[in-house]
Amino acid sequence: MSNNAIAVMASGKGSNLRVILDAVAAGTCPVEVKLVISDKADAQALNIARAAGVPQVLHLDPKAYADRASFDVDCAEVIDAAGCQWIVLAGYMRILSSSFVRHFRGRMINIHPSILPAFPGAKAVEAALGYGVKASGCTVHLVDEILDGGPILAQAVVPVLDGDTLESLHARIQVEEHRLYPATLARMVTTGFDIDGRRVIWRT
Ligand code: GRF
Repeated sequence: MSNNAIAVMASGKGSNLRVILDAVAAGTCPVEVKLVISDKADAQALNIARAAGVPQVLHLDPKAYADRASFDVDCAEVIDAAGCQWIVLAGYMRILSSSFVRHFRGRMINIHPSILPAFPGAKAVEAALGYGVKASGCTVHLVDEILDGGPILAQAVVPVLDGDTLESLHARIQVEEHRLYPATLARMVTTGFDIDGRRVIWRT
């Protein structure tokens, strides 16, 4: 298994997938996107992956499976068969079964649109606005069994402005996501990191 082969899982518009593929093409992110999986047939992420020539682009339909665990078993088999070392969640909106999380422990990362541990969960941007925080941002973290709770790899902060709507704040956060995610991936596969308790210590 090459240590820079990645699988991306995405459910939505795929802008994070797009910037990763752009960074790979530009030579600034030395990973190989071998596989993209989506649980949504109409995810724009699938079109982005096909257009970029990702070797394996798959829609797996959760409705074709008896339960979450059996869906995740198939996903894990496809990822392993493709020889992917890293699993990159990029707007993947399904809760993962604990056996899937355990199988890829330490090798699966996610990007979340808040400064964790504030505002975990699916409505992070809305929750941050509603709470009235004056700064928010995004977090790249390892995935463990706690939702949005794994060790933190990188964070970026943006201001929350008085006139912000859900859309304007999310757009400002996504500018940072698009910088942070490819940069963090690149750092992961080049220098790497160690884990000390909850702390990620980047190697130099
Ligand atoms: C991002 O805001 C990410 O933080 C969250 O889902 C969104 C995905 O956006 N997990 P996109 O599909 O990559 O544009």
